[in-house]
Amino acid sequence: MNTRRNSLLGILVLVLSLSALLVACQQEETGPEDSVLVQDPHYIMGSGLYKRHCAGCHGEQGEGRTSLGPQINTEEWQAGITDEDIREVILTGRRVAGTSMDSFEGVLPEDEIEAIIVYVRTLRE
Ligand code: HEC
Repeated sequence: MNTRRNSLLGILVLVLSLSALLVACQQEETGPEDSVLVQDPHYIMGSGLYKRHCAGCHGEQGEGRTSLGPQINTEEWQAGITDEDIREVILTGRRVAGTSMDSFEGVLPEDEIEAIIVYVRTLRE
């Protein structure tokens, strides 16, 4: 009788610790990445630069502004563009395509453009 109760207790402890482990793993997956990123100096610098130079047309969260700049915060958009492409657009601007986005080449130094790319990568709806 006692042994049976003990093994039941054992199973209960095992189940409880497994579910605790599972919860911990799930938190691992979603939580920390963002907070680590928020402490990344590129992210902090990029956030300020983005607000100053890009948000006027693309919106504070990349949601876009009608007739000013397209939305750049959807999953599809993020998946469909490389860092290289983003750098290219920032450097050449989109006047070439007949739009209002100026080239930032010579306006922003290379490290500021890098920081903006890091920040743009974090934009989500
Ligand atoms: C004066 C308004 C304006 C400003 C300021 C501006 N953009 Fe743009 N941006 C546009 C427009 C308009 C387009 C659309 C170009 C097109 O349709 O080809 C565009 C296109 C883009 C694209 C390409 C989108 C795509 O799907 O191909 C990226 C990336 C981008 N901008 C990033 C930025 C970043 C980063 C900044 C700040 C450094 C910035 N833009 C500043 C207006 C602006």
